[in-house]
Amino acid sequence: MITTDSATEATHAAPAVFTRRLSTRRATAQERAARSADASFGTAFTEHMVTLRWTRQEGWHDGRVEPYATLALDPATVGLHYGQAVFEGLKAYRTADGRTAVFRPHAHAERFRRSAARLLMPELPEETFVRAVEELVTADEAWVPGEPHRSLYLRPLMFASETGLALRPADEFRFLLIAFVTEGFFGEPRPITVWVSEDHTRAAPGGTGAAKYAGNYAASYAAQAQAGEHGCDQVVWLDSQERRWVEELGGMNVFFVERDGPARKLVTPPLSGTILPGVTRDTLLRAAPGLGLDVEERRIAVDEWREGCRSGRISEVFACGTAAQVTSVGTVRTARDEFSVGDGRPGLVAGMLSDLLSGIERGLAPDPQKWMHYV
Ligand SMILES: Cc1ncc(COP(=O)(O)O)c(C=O)c1O
Repeated sequence: MITTDSATEATHAAPAVFTRRLSTRRATAQERAARSADASFGTAFTEHMVTLRWTRQEGWHDGRVEPYATLALDPATVGLHYGQAVFEGLKAYRTADGRTAVFRPHAHAERFRRSAARLLMPELPEETFVRAVEELVTADEAWVPGEPHRSLYLRPLMFASETGLALRPADEFRFLLIAFVTEGFFGEPRPITVWVSEDHTRAAPGGTGAAKYAGNYAASYAAQAQAGEHGCDQVVWLDSQERRWVEELGGMNVFFVERDGPARKLVTPPLSGTILPGVTRDTLLRAAPGLGLDVEERRIAVDEWREGCRSGRISEVFACGTAAQVTSVGTVRTARDEFSVGDGRPGLVAGMLSDLLSGIERGLAPDPQKWMHYV
């Protein structure tokens, strides 16, 4: 589990301020509506971005909030060649009382730091990460949508910006933060069909699976394409050694709901180093006991999944993540067979957890852990 939501000590002096140069001609409400009419993932970008630079001599410096613009990069920029790049994904919401808040920015800041450390990149102090998020959400506050199914997705990114192709960790990095309006990842809420990948794996012990490292995502395209060829929405990742244990579901963590008489238990694979420690996963593990659900972190094999669905012991399976929130799995396809989860419809427990999450995000449900960070 993620251990803390509070900022830890800075590893480098943080820039106290970001220089602010806002766009002189701001989009009107009509222009914003037109530009975000198509809110499919990663298309409706806002008007500003935050940038920061890091060099070995100066540490983090030159923080700016400025109009969203293209970057000029030297063709020999290290990050383009060797992929020294990590990113994050978190969301800002408009709460029912009209305020704006970001969901668990400190937890995302902590994961960003850990991802960077894995790739021998500089660690951005958590308070600087959160300050950057506050700056962008403030500059583009008008873009935070009020419709309940929409939110503002924030995308922090860090890449090696040094010029020169020596094969070693870079001495210069660029941090960027951009944002776009988004809605349901899979369109209308519906149970998804998943493909159990036996040809490809996402992560190996000792590798980069626990980091939000850019290369993990490019490497997943082949399996995702195979899932598509089999009429599936997403790929189920198995462990790389035995190809037996369920690890993740596309870019999401996975939960199984086990029935034990009238009681229900959430089971999810443990963070073994090959699984991305999802903030949503952590949130559900912490929130579930309050809904009367036990939680257990243990390995589940595909055979147990199939058998559990046949016997009814596993009543639901769902994926979770910032982009997809809580999404039920309806059908599982493998190279040999296909089986349904429950009655193939969205599950009750998934519905309960999804309502709880969206209640907190909209400021309608109690938030005792102060996950919402008001800006
Ligand atoms: C591989 C992978 N697993 C799980 C998740 C879910 O993480 P979170 O809940 O922090 O969005 C993500 C998304 O960031 C991911 O890319």
